[in-house]
Amino acid sequence: MSLLQLRQQLQEKRVNTPVKVAVAHGDGIGPEIMAATLRILDAAGANLEPEFIDLGEKVYLSGNTSGIDAGAWDAIGESKVIFKAPITTPQGKGYKSLNVTLRKSLGLFANVRPVEAFSPYIHTNFPDMNVVIIRENEEDLYAGIEHRQTQDVYQCLKLITRPGSERIIRYAFEYARAYGRKKVTCMVKDNIMKITDGLFHQVFDEIAPEYPEIESETQIIDIGSARLAANPENYDVIVTANLYGDIISDIAAEIGGSVGMCGSANIGKNVAMFEAIHGSAPDIAGKGVANPSGLINAAVAMLAHIGQTSVADKVKNAWLRTLEQGYHTADIFQEGISKELVGTQEFADYLIFNLGGAPKKLPKSTLEHGTGKIHIPDYVRRPQQKELVGVDVFIDWEGSDPDEIGDALANIEVYKLKLKMITNRGVKVYPKGLKETYCTDHWRCRFVGLDAHINRREPDYASIDFEQVVALLSKLYDLGFDVIKTENLYEFDGKRGFSLGQGE
Ligand code: NAI
Ligand code: MG
Repeated sequence: MSLLQLRQQLQEKRVNTPVKVAVAHGDGIGPEIMAATLRILDAAGANLEPEFIDLGEKVYLSGNTSGIDAGAWDAIGESKVIFKAPITTPQGKGYKSLNVTLRKSLGLFANVRPVEAFSPYIHTNFPDMNVVIIRENEEDLYAGIEHRQTQDVYQCLKLITRPGSERIIRYAFEYARAYGRKKVTCMVKDNIMKITDGLFHQVFDEIAPEYPEIESETQIIDIGSARLAANPENYDVIVTANLYGDIISDIAAEIGGSVGMCGSANIGKNVAMFEAIHGSAPDIAGKGVANPSGLINAAVAMLAHIGQTSVADKVKNAWLRTLEQGYHTADIFQEGISKELVGTQEFADYLIFNLGGAPKKLPKSTLEHGTGKIHIPDYVRRPQQKELVGVDVFIDWEGSDPDEIGDALANIEVYKLKLKMITNRGVKVYPKGLKETYCTDHWRCRFVGLDAHINRREPDYASIDFEQVVALLSKLYDLGFDVIKTENLYEFDGKRGFSLGQGE
């Protein structure tokens, strides 16, 4: 057999081998919209081998607080692709969010939510909107590391990592390239969070030049989301951190008029999960009236992801044509625009009838012209020199005069460590604070090497040993101070790895 024949045979095998997908029927309207969608996929010639798994309410109520059982994990491990209808999370009783569990345990780092306007068939004020929000899915304030530190102060840790930022930002550019998008906008708040959001911004600036054909820009999240809400047509792909992405993806779906129409993808290195963005709609479950469009769009994204782009286009184009024809479910029905009020299965029937056809007014789907698979290289860690230069000691103290605690701490000298300043809620209150600054019971006391006090010019900090920190803590304990936590101060390759106090 010639090499060419062998290659052709391999290609055919790849095309003809069905792709395994773990399919969850979900709860509420889930089974109805999943049945409709699977019928459409079958009729369109999607080459899938579904393995049905149980997720959600039934599993929760059987006493499994995670909502997913071992059998489902096995199926997911084998198929690597999950197609999921919405599930109901029972209220109370400590049930864990299944979505968070799946996201975190499978490393689904990217949440991808395209929002398109389908005006005039679906009402929106923004007929030209067509934006994809790519949200980091694992880090940021969603790590869930929270502490109550004093009677009055509570804390949530915001974690932004270099591998996490590189991965999501590269994914955004690769997505733009694969799906023929023109611009990627990064949204951050690095004017305030210079170190965490600053890293995200910096990584964006490092990666953007590798994609010269794609325009790139960065906006501060507050004005960025305001502009997104006012002029969504000016955006193409948006990449952002977890919390901001959570918020702006809902804003985008809402103003696009398509909350019931959007699908979303959760993408990991090995596994990907596709679902509608809406929930299980218990109020209309079992009535046959639910709109299956969100799940259909999730299926289109899944087909594109597994390389069945022409089938993806076929389904999407038939769906667009059905919308244009005015066959609308109750949630999108508009007097004067819609032609016929249809139920879930009828909508699917009309769509199946339209397979092979194309929309006449709305833009045609062109996933087929994309460049295909997205590959994210493994993270390469570049070693840096890390040096301890001081410590922030957080003290619980009920007094109100910063000079009182400041003078007491300033007199302490341990080896070479000495108090540099105290802040309260980030504002410098010692030395020389302002009377007006309100102080809580949470005092951040910065101790640095003595040399740093003597040498006023850069570099400001001198290397210390951790032993000195331990000795300092021991001394503070002896003097009766209530130390609630410490945070070491490091320099990396000589660059300060901590923020200055406001007013420092
Ligand atoms: P929901 O999205 O289920 O419903 C909100 C409203 O939109 C309801 O009036 C519903 O009838 C309507 N709606 C939603 N999808 C529709 C569709 N396809 N066609 C027509 N109308 C539709 O949100 P809700 O009520 O806050 O949550 C219900 C349940 O869904 C909860 O148990 C929640 O935990 C779960 N949920 C699950 C999600 C998932 O599995 N990914 C996501 C969001 C919520
Ligand atoms: Mg949300």
